[in-house]
Amino acid sequence: MKIRFWEERDLSAVADLERECFSDPWSSQAIEETAKRQDFIGLVLEFQGEVVGYVGCLFAFDQADILLIAVSKNHRGKGWGKTLLEKALGVLKINQVQNVFLEVRKSNLVARSCYAGRGFKEIAERKGYYSDGEDAIIMEKEI
Ligand SMILES: CC(C)(COP(=O)(O)OP(=O)(O)OC[C@H]1O[C@@H](n2cnc3c(N)ncnc32)[C@H](O)[C@@H]1OP(=O)(O)O)[C@@H](O)C(=O)NCCC(=O)NCCS
Repeated sequence: MKIRFWEERDLSAVADLERECFSDPWSSQAIEETAKRQDFIGLVLEFQGEVVGYVGCLFAFDQADILLIAVSKNHRGKGWGKTLLEKALGVLKINQVQNVFLEVRKSNLVARSCYAGRGFKEIAERKGYYSDGEDAIIMEKEI
């Protein structure tokens, strides 16, 4: 397994994984437009030459949002998600980021536990945030 910076050529693999992992995936176009931005930082996780995980963040000054993060179903529970998250936090810190935010579905207990275990605190709840009406939990970590 190796983690490297997200490159333009990763778009279709990431978009495929996004569809595999979420009921409301970002479109390929939305991922492409976001990943092109100057304030984007993305990493991908490769296993046997295949992209099986990704994380994407936007940052401005000392704040960042983690917008995208997932690991392929076949490779979950092996510590790769937390490694990806920790690497992303390291890259954000190098870029002078001090506060990192993310939103997670209330029902997504695996992800919430993954973030809590890495020191993210639940700071707010947004009622009906997702298109299917589910609430979002906003989490923050100081790095
Ligand atoms: C969330 C996700 C990225 C975690 O990746 P992963 O590789 O499966 O997780 P890891 O094996 O690195 O475990 C990280 C933490 O997740 C939690 N976790 C993992 N598997 C779990 C399980 N089966 N049950 C409960 N918690 C679990 C634990 O808190 C674990 O931390 P710990 O090892 O310190 O206890 C992955 O489950 C995923 O892609 N889910 C679908 C997409 C998604 O929901 N993304 C987040 C959107 S906000």
